[in-house]
Amino acid sequence: MPTGHTVDRTAVDGTTNQAHASAALHLDRIRGDVDAALGQFMDAQAGRASDDCLPPLVEVIRGFVTGGKRLRPLFCVCGWVAAGGDVATPAVFRVGAALELFHAFALIHDDVMDASAYRRGAPTVHRLLAERAGEHSGVATAQRFGESAAILVGDICLVWSDELLHDSGVSPERLSDSRRLLNAMRTEIMAGQYLDVETGESDLAAELDRAWRVIRHKTAAYTVARPLQIGAALAGGEDALLQACDAYGYPLGEAFQLRDDLLGVFGNPSVTGKSDLDDLRDGKRTVLVTLARQQATPDQSAALDELYGDPELDERGAARLREVIRQTGAEDVVEDMIRVRRDRALEALEGAPMTEPARRSLAELAETATRRQR
Ligand code: IPE
Ligand code: IPE
Ligand code: MG
Ligand code: MG
Repeated sequence: MPTGHTVDRTAVDGTTNQAHASAALHLDRIRGDVDAALGQFMDAQAGRASDDCLPPLVEVIRGFVTGGKRLRPLFCVCGWVAAGGDVATPAVFRVGAALELFHAFALIHDDVMDASAYRRGAPTVHRLLAERAGEHSGVATAQRFGESAAILVGDICLVWSDELLHDSGVSPERLSDSRRLLNAMRTEIMAGQYLDVETGESDLAAELDRAWRVIRHKTAAYTVARPLQIGAALAGGEDALLQACDAYGYPLGEAFQLRDDLLGVFGNPSVTGKSDLDDLRDGKRTVLVTLARQQATPDQSAALDELYGDPELDERGAARLREVIRQTGAEDVVEDMIRVRRDRALEALEGAPMTEPARRSLAELAETATRRQR
């Protein structure tokens, strides 16, 4: 494996920090290579635009994709390396970039559905486009334009994701081997998103069951297990490796979303880059809040009923809601759930039929994905 993409963290004397066969991958360098692949693809799209309306939209997409954590490309590259693929293969960074474009599509549409104003520390795409239109039209027209245009910009990301994957340079046989996993991933996230926006259940047990189904489809499969498996399949990974990706990916993906739900309520918006009011105003039916409801005293239940899902919720009401959710003990239960799932993911790595650099990097990612502040 070429030097530059690996980091030897076993060196203890401070003098022998050089890459070797079992070293962890240099995740920041992989992020940089994926970003470069995305940049090249955007340049090419701007260069071959069939209409003057397209280059500015390319810039909107370029701006939006800046700032993501690049988790799906990282898992994909780890899967590739896990199956014996060479980390310094340009094609795998283009596949990672394609997954990131798919993610851009999913998030741009998600922000329209969730009526979110901020993401990655900046206005969401529909807000940005509405603001631009608002310079020339009324507020309602601008809002409608922003949402319609964001749906189209998301669609562009989706089709370009496919284009980039197809032209990634991975052999057609390997692409065809991984297609089943990619297809599954794309349908799973839609199912998760659908369940997330569908009207609620009548009882809390059914609600909790639904919240777990949402997490499994929307995040565990989409964010961890499938990108990892896609990378592994592209490098010719066998069934035993794909199963190990499952055993690691599902618990870690669940833990990742549980952390996201905690950050959505208790996170610092200047760090997460997202609002800390959206979930509360939306009345998002997360595992966290469903547990809070199950464990609530009558007074706490009354506060949750009154405030959770109030679209006009102010900072004072939000502070009260956070206090109630904490007092029910749900935050602690969710922290425990995250710990248990992260440990399960780490256990799945032990003895898994994968290369050492991938095992080490996946262990590192299990920590960063669950301890994160953003
Ligand atoms: C956000 O994903 C959507 C979820 C599945 C929770 P990320 O937390 O990976 O978002 P970015 O790409 O880093 O912005
Ligand atoms: C987004 O889910 C899921 C996707 C992967 C698109 P959420 O709505 O829970 O995520 P955030 O909090 O807006 O990032
Ligand atoms: Mg959202
Ligand atoms: Mg959503």
